[in-house]
Amino acid sequence: MVEENFPGVYIVGGKIATKNLVPGYRVYGEKIVIEGNVEYRIWDLHRSKLAAAMHKGLKEMHIKPGSAVLYLGAASGTTASHISDIVGMDGIVYCVEFAQRSMRDLLAVCERHENMMPIMGDARQPQQYAEGIGEVDIIYQDVAQPDQDDIFIKNSQMFLKKGGWGMICIKSQSIDVSREPKKIFEEFVAKVGSEMEVHDQIDLTPYDLEHLFITGKRK
Ligand SMILES: C[S@@+](CC[C@H](N)C(=O)[O-])C[C@H]1O[C@@H](n2cnc3c(N)ncnc32)[C@H](O)[C@@H]1O
Repeated sequence: MVEENFPGVYIVGGKIATKNLVPGYRVYGEKIVIEGNVEYRIWDLHRSKLAAAMHKGLKEMHIKPGSAVLYLGAASGTTASHISDIVGMDGIVYCVEFAQRSMRDLLAVCERHENMMPIMGDARQPQQYAEGIGEVDIIYQDVAQPDQDDIFIKNSQMFLKKGGWGMICIKSQSIDVSREPKKIFEEFVAKVGSEMEVHDQIDLTPYDLEHLFITGKRK
C-alpha cells in the first residue's frame, strides 16, 4: 500500500520512500519496491538524517516538487539523491562537497540524476560557487564542522530567498565534545535565530546520536 506523506514523499509498506527518478538505478544499495508500475526507493533511516527527522515527527517538509535546493555537505549523495527524487526534473539540487573521495562517488550519482549539480567547493567560502547559483528555496546543511552556524549564515545571506527555508543537521560533537549537547544546541538555535525563525527541532536519537535537526524560515 502507498500513501503520500508529504508532496513527493511516500509511505510504502510502512516505510518512507521516494519515487525513483532513474528507474532501475540504486544509489547506496537501498531497497527498491514496485507498486502499480511505479518504482520507489526505500529511504534508510540509519543512512539519512532527513529520513530520521521525518520518522521522528518533522511537521513541515519544505522540499517539494520543483524546489531549488542548495545542499551543503552532500557527501556521496545518499540523502541528496532522495531530495532529487522529490524535487523532480522541474527542480534542482546544487550539491556542495569538498572531499575528493566523496566527490568521486557523488559525480557518478549526478551523471544519472540529471537534476543534481555537483559543486567541488568549500561551504565556508560561498563566493567560490556563487556563479551559476541564483536564489534558492531551501538550504539543506549537514557539514559536521565546528563553525556550522557561521557556514549556514554565510550561505543563507548569499543564496536563500526571503521566506525560504533552512534545514540543518547540527552535530554537537563536532562543535565541542566536552560540553553538554543541550547547551550547544541552544546556542546554535539562538545564533541562527538572527537569520531565520526556527520552527521544528528534532532530536535524531537513536538514528544519529547527539544530533539535532532544525528547520527555520528566512527572515
Ligand atoms: C555527515 S557528512 C554528510 C552526509 C550526507 N549529508 C548524507 O546524508 O548523505 C558531512 C559531509 O560534509 C562535508 N563537508 C564538511 N565540511 C565541508 C565544507 N566546509 N565544505 C564542503 N563540504 C564539507 C564532508 O566532507 C562530508 O562529506
